[in-house]
This record gives sequence, C-alpha cells and structure tokens, in this order.
Amino acid sequence: MSRPNQSIHGQWSSRWAFILAATGSAVGLGNIWKFPYITGEYGGGAFVLVYLLCLAVIGLPVMMAEVLIGRRGRQNPVNGLRTLAAEEGKHKGWRYLGWGGVVAGFLILSYYSVIAGEALAYVFRSFAGVFEGVTPDGAHHIYTSLTSDAERLLAWHTIFIIMTMIIVSRGVQGGLEKAVKFLMPALLGLLLLLVGYASNTGVYFDQGLDFLFKADFSKLTSGAVLTAMGHAFFTLSLGMGAIMVYGSYLPQKASILKVSLSISIADTAVALLAGMAIFPLVFANGLSPAAGPGLIFETLPIAFGHMPGGTFFGGLFFLLLVFAAWSSAISLIEPAVAWLVENKNVSRRRAAVIAGFSVWLFGLLTVFSFNIGSQWTLFGKTMFDLLDYLTANIMLPLGGLLITIFAGWVMSQNSTREELAVKPAFIYTAWRFIIRYITPAAISIIFFKVVGIL
Ligand code: TRP
Repeated sequence: MSRPNQSIHGQWSSRWAFILAATGSAVGLGNIWKFPYITGEYGGGAFVLVYLLCLAVIGLPVMMAEVLIGRRGRQNPVNGLRTLAAEEGKHKGWRYLGWGGVVAGFLILSYYSVIAGEALAYVFRSFAGVFEGVTPDGAHHIYTSLTSDAERLLAWHTIFIIMTMIIVSRGVQGGLEKAVKFLMPALLGLLLLLVGYASNTGVYFDQGLDFLFKADFSKLTSGAVLTAMGHAFFTLSLGMGAIMVYGSYLPQKASILKVSLSISIADTAVALLAGMAIFPLVFANGLSPAAGPGLIFETLPIAFGHMPGGTFFGGLFFLLLVFAAWSSAISLIEPAVAWLVENKNVSRRRAAVIAGFSVWLFGLLTVFSFNIGSQWTLFGKTMFDLLDYLTANIMLPLGGLLITIFAGWVMSQNSTREELAVKPAFIYTAWRFIIRYITPAAISIIFFKVVGIL
C-alpha cells in the first residue's frame, strides 16, 4: 500500500508552526481549569509530583510515538494506522485504534465546548464588573444562574462551536496555523501578567507555591494516581490522535524528539504558571483550594472581586481561558474533519460543518446535565462527569497503551528508527526500550489497579 509523502491537507509552514499548534492543542482548559482544581482536590504537591512523573515516563514517549505514527502515515489516524499496519504486514484492524481516537476527540469536545462557553460568558461578566465585591453566595449564585439556565448555556456552547468551526474550515495553514500564531503569544503574555499580579499578594504567593510544590504523600490515594496519569494524557492531548493528525502535517526534516520535548515543557510550564496565578489569590482571600470544578468559576471571581484591578485582571483571566480552549478545540475536531475530507470526499468547509454540528448536538447532553438533566445519571455520575471520566481516565490511557504497543511492537525497528532519525543512536535505543516496556507497564499497572482488575 502506498503512502503519500505529504498530507493532502498540506503541511505546517515550519517546525515552529507545528510546535505552536501542538502547544496550542496541549495548553487548554486542562491546564488552567482542570489542573488547578484537581491539584486542589488531591491536596497539592504530592499530586503534582506524580503528575510530573507521569509526564516524563508516559507523556513524552507517547507523544513521540504519536508524532512518529502521524508523520509516517501522512493521513488521518484511521487511514494512517491502516496504511502503516499493512506496510508492516500486520492486521488492518489497527485502524480501529484510529477510530477510537476520532470518537474520543468527539466526546471530549462535546463537553469541552460547554466549559469553554462558560469561560466566554465569564469574559463579559468580569469586564462588566459583575464580580466587584461579590460574596461567596453571590459568586455561587452567578455561576448557577448561568449553568442552571439551559438556554443560556446552550447559546454559549453554540457560539464556541461556531468559533471552532470557522478556524477548522480554513485549513491547516490558513486556519489552524494563523490562529495559533496569534493566540499563543497572547496567551503567554496574559499568563505572565496574571502571575505578576498574583505575586503582589506577598505571603500568600509563597503559600500558593508551597501548596503546589510541597509534597504531602499522606494525601495521595490510588484514585489520585489514576487521575494524575489520565491528566498527563489529557493535558498533552495524547491518546486519541490529535497529536497524530498534527504530526501528519509535520515537515519531514523536523526532529520529533525536539518538537515533542518543546511541547511537553511548554505545556507543563503553563500548568504550573496557572497554578501560581490562581492559588495565591485563593489563599489571599481565605478561600478553599478544594472547591472542585467550580474553583475557577466560583472561587476565583470572589478573589478578583476583592482585589485592586480585579475587574480588569479577572476579565483577562477568562479571556486567557477562552484562547487556550479555542486552540485546543480545533485539535479535538481535526481528526474527524481530516477523516471526512479524505474518506468521504467532502470539502473541508463542509467537513467542518458536519463534524461541528454533530459535536454540538452531542454536547446537549452536557448542557442539560447542569440543569434539566441533572437527574440523568449513570453509575452515579451526571452525563458531564461520566463523559469526563470515560474519556480522560479510560479512553485516553487505553488509547495511549495501544499506541505504545503499535509503535513498539507492531512497527519494525527499521521504520521507527528511520522516522525518528535521532542521533546519537543510544537515544533511539532508550526510546524504544521505554516505549516497549516501561510506558506500557506503567500505564497498565496504574490503570488496571485502579479500575480494580489487578
Ligand atoms: N490538551 C487540552 C487541554 O489540556 C485538551 C485537548 C485538546 C485534548 N486535544 C486533545 C485532550 C486531545 C485529549 C486529547 O485542555
């Protein structure tokens, strides 16, 4: 079976464009909304340490594998995996791993967009001064009056999906690349500004740092370890083909090791900086870091509402959140769009509309899980909680496990060595050893132990 040496969707104009785009995918609600609140729930430093370990042992090697598979296949994850499997004389059933990725991206975006929509709503609320001097009850009321109103939540979800469709329909260079070239520098600037703002809180800044970096292992449960691993996948956009499809647009001469390292480091830095911007404000106002998913939407506005310049900086914070979510959302839908264009022979615009509309429709489950559908539960979880748990804690680790098996055991040593093209040779040897033994073992142990199979 022949394999094109360039994707039909075109490619990134440079290695830097890829790094920006993949970092844009990685840096998202996961870093700024989810990382702080799960760190808060699981008690801080010890959780952060496990998360960093997971990034190094699991995240980086899997990212290299995904970029490698993507670039070598030069197609959407379904076709790419099928082509590579055929090339190695292996079973074509591997394409279902690609399918799993398309579906996972679809499911994640369906709830991701609702949270991003909330952030969008909060940009306007913050700048309008709604949070000035707000009480905890008031902040709670403002949040629930947004989430309990199905119509309003739906409207913001709709706007965010349309924003995503617009970028994706414009293609790799004209849409994705252009967007990240504006969004990523803006995001970094906003984040640094906010960390600077938080550093004005003096002792509370130190308290925030302590919370993030002082490990208290007594708080570490097995659930925390699974969450840390799941989050390592989520935050790096791994386990579902987003990085694979971005890799399929990567110029041949770029070094996979270097780009993967840059993306992982940038993503980790943003998560830690977000923690450094958020926790000092939480402590300075005597609030609890363990508020859960509402930390950003209920706790933080109280903090901003009581600080000089809080209206302005609060608005900037939510703008940052929207930018981060936007550049991630496009990567969640790109595998489905690429598949539609390649296999169903539709234009990119039409593909973006079809995929976007389907995700929007499915997103209604999440929209309603906060209001009229809050009673619809399965395994004791609302639809939103269920989708989050199913994707982040189950589908991504399983997808990641299968990707390591594909790259380490299905693909021949010659193929992976040629594609990675790293020097000195021992780096390749180390990567292959890690991807064949260490990473799959680490994922399996954590996963099967927590799920209760081991
Ligand atoms: N990484 C993004 C975040 O941290 C979310 C995301 C984008 C993602 N693409 C993905 C998660 C693919 C899993 C898989 O918010």
